[in-house]
This record gives sequence, structure tokens and C-alpha cells, in this order.
Amino acid sequence: MTAQTLNPEVLGSLLDRLGREAAQFRFEVAPNPCVGAAVLAAGEVVGVGFHESYGGPHAEVQAIEAAHASGVPQADWDTIVVTLEPCSTTGKTPPCVEAILKTGIQNVVVSQLDPNPDHEGRGLHMLEDAGLQVRVMDGICRLEDVSPHFLRWVANERVRRPRPWMIAKWAQTMTGQLSPPADVGEGRWISGPESLKEVQLLRGKVDAMVTGVGTVLVDDPRLSVRPPGDITQPPARIILDAWLRTPTDARLFEEPGEGESAGPVFLLCLPGSNAVRWRALEKAGATIVPIRGEDRQHLRLLDVQSWLSAQGYNRVLLETGPTLLRRYLESGLVDQVRMITGNVRGGQGESLADWIQEAKLKQHVMRECGSDSVMEAFLTVDF
Ligand SMILES: NC(=O)c1ccc[n+]([C@@H]2O[C@H](COP(=O)([O-])OP(=O)(O)OC[C@H]3O[C@@H](n4cnc5c(N)ncnc54)[C@H](OP(=O)(O)O)[C@@H]3O)[C@@H](O)[C@H]2O)c1
Repeated sequence: MTAQTLNPEVLGSLLDRLGREAAQFRFEVAPNPCVGAAVLAAGEVVGVGFHESYGGPHAEVQAIEAAHASGVPQADWDTIVVTLEPCSTTGKTPPCVEAILKTGIQNVVVSQLDPNPDHEGRGLHMLEDAGLQVRVMDGICRLEDVSPHFLRWVANERVRRPRPWMIAKWAQTMTGQLSPPADVGEGRWISGPESLKEVQLLRGKVDAMVTGVGTVLVDDPRLSVRPPGDITQPPARIILDAWLRTPTDARLFEEPGEGESAGPVFLLCLPGSNAVRWRALEKAGATIVPIRGEDRQHLRLLDVQSWLSAQGYNRVLLETGPTLLRRYLESGLVDQVRMITGNVRGGQGESLADWIQEAKLKQHVMRECGSDSVMEAFLTVDF
């Protein structure tokens, strides 16, 4: 059986199903696209796979693994169906074109070319050059429907002036405050243990984390990664600290405990900050980075974002207090939110309830996590 002789209706409904299932992983993979793949033998699906997490294996590799697990001999596999053109370059994982070529599969069906001008058509050409039959079934499971976030990520404006995919995560009380009443959770904890585990998983899947000095002064967090998070590549820890107020004995500078890991600490400050504090903080273990200010008071967030991008930090987690969080949200620099509402009444500090009411949320989901409710969404912003 060849890609040309397979029934287009069967292929169409398979692609449609793969696209819908792949989209369920959108908050885990963004800014990467949601992708699904299936390996076929004589028209029967023998393995299905999805890109399930940022930095994790791509759908094609997952589908090939599932096909191996099915027990159907590799020699019988004839076709791979993928919702997006397979990648041809090494990113966080090796190119999928290579993985496909290694299987001996002869037919490739895709529903859309990679829209990134640097990759568009390259993967398919490589497969054709290697003698495989390639069929493009345009119009089924379009990126506009399955991965609109990816289209924004590869839009001209974003490619021309790169800035990271920013995920803001916060826990709030039922009245939208980020700190609980003083007599609840040591005046600090709002969310339950299940949500805290999810936070560790998220930390293990980002390149960097950003917080404001206000949080460092009040909470003295370590911003480490602990199981069940992936501790193998801990994110860099970035503190926005215009006047270098971070204490030299902050827990950020402690060695991570057994079984946990922590990335390098960067303190972003205004140029010309106090030289004595600068040296003392460098001695404590920080790398100090001067960033342009916007009103002699604060760091210019656009410059912060450019610096993050220049370091190769593409997926960045914002875990901070209400002051910096509101500033980021209102600046339009946040792409994705995870808002955890704990089972706590009242609270301290300003509420974000007004922002949430006005926010233009896209593709949002509400779910339960232990006793908390979690809202995840993309934000409508101009790119
Ligand atoms: N519930 C949650 O998810 C959560 C998460 C984190 C923290 N918190 C709570 O939040 C509280 C701390 O919040 P916070 O609002 O005081 O601190 P914050 O938002 O973490 O940090 C604010 C500080 O960031 C610095 N900053 C640097 N550049 C900035 C910019 N462009 N715009 C605004 N600020 C900038 C400012 O200090 P400089 O001008 O000195 O640089 C500012 O004072 C604590 O009680 C903590 O427990 C809650």
C-alpha cells in the first residue's frame, strides 16, 4: 500500500483525530506546535504518538515507539501519518526525518508544511530525496485550529524581535489575592500539595524562571526543582532587582539539597547600581546583568525579555508577587497563564480580580487539582 493509494477519507479522519488529541497538550508544549502521528501497516494503525511536553520526544518518535511496542514487525510498517511536516534540524531532540528514515517506512502523509520560513518544505524534500513517497493533505487539521499559539510564535514580528514564550503562574485566594490571611498557611501557602507538585513539573520544563526582588525579600525562595519535576536541566533563576536589594545570604545562593537541583542565579539591575553590593552579590554566587531602566525606577521589561531571548531562554516561567506580575500582564508580554485558586477566603495585598475580569483569554480550560481549581489559557496579545 502507498500513500497515494490509501483512502483519502480514512486518512482525513485519522489526521483530524490526531490533531484534536494533540491539541490537548497545548499548554504543555507551547510555544512548540501540537503534533500527532500514527504508523500504519497495510492500512491499519499500529502506533500512535503525540508531542506531549516541551523538550520531550516529538510525535513521530512516540508513534514509532508505540509501533515497536505493538509487536507488528517493522518490515510491515509502510506509512507514517503526521499532522505537521517532520522536523529536519536538531533542536532539543534529534530530527524526526532521521527517525523516519531509520524505520524503512516508504510513505509519509502530512497535513501541513512547517510555517517557519527556515524549515518550510525542508523535511519533506529530505524524505523525497531519500526515495520516500510524500503526500500533503492540505486543509485538514490546520494549525489555525490545532496550534494557533504556534502561528503567533513564528509570526514575522516575533521572529524579527525575539522574546521568550512567557508563562505566568500564580496562586491566589478566592478574592484574587496572592498572599493568604496571616493565620493561613504560615501567611504564605495558598495552594495544596497536588498543585505544588504540578509546579515542580512545570519548573522542570522551562529554560528560566523570573521573579521580583519583592518575593525574594519576603519569601526567601530557593526556586529549585524537586521531584516529580525533571531535575536534570534546572532553569536559570532570574531576579529583577533594580537596586540590588537581594541579601547576600538569600537561600537562592545555598547549595541545592539532596535529590533537587537549581540553575544559575542572575540578578538584573539598573546600570550603575551600588558597586559594593554588586561585588558582594557576585561573591555570593550571582551573575549581575545591567539592564536599561524605563523611568529611573524600574527595569525596562522589553529589554529584560530581549536579554532572556539572547541567552537562549525560549520558554520562561514568571513566578512572582503582585507588583511585577501585574506589570508583566499589563505590558502584554505574557503568552500563557496558569492561575491556581486555592480554597482560601480573604487574603493580603492587592487583588488581580479586576485584571482577570478584563483579560482576553484564549482556549482556556478549568480543571481541579486536589482542593484547588486551576485555570490555564493563552492570552490575546498583538505580536
Ligand atoms: N501567590 C503567588 O503565586 C506568589 C508568588 C510569588 C510571591 N508571592 C507573594 O508576593 C509577595 C511579594 O510581592 P511583591 O509585589 O512585593 O514583589 P514582586 O512582585 O515579587 O517584586 C516586586 C519588585 O520587583 C522589582 N522590579 C524590577 N523591575 C520591575 C518592573 N519593571 N516593574 C515592577 N517591579 C519591578 C521591584 O523592585 P526594585 O525596583 O527594587 O527592582 C519591585 O519592588 C510576597 O508576600 C510573596 O509571598 C505570591
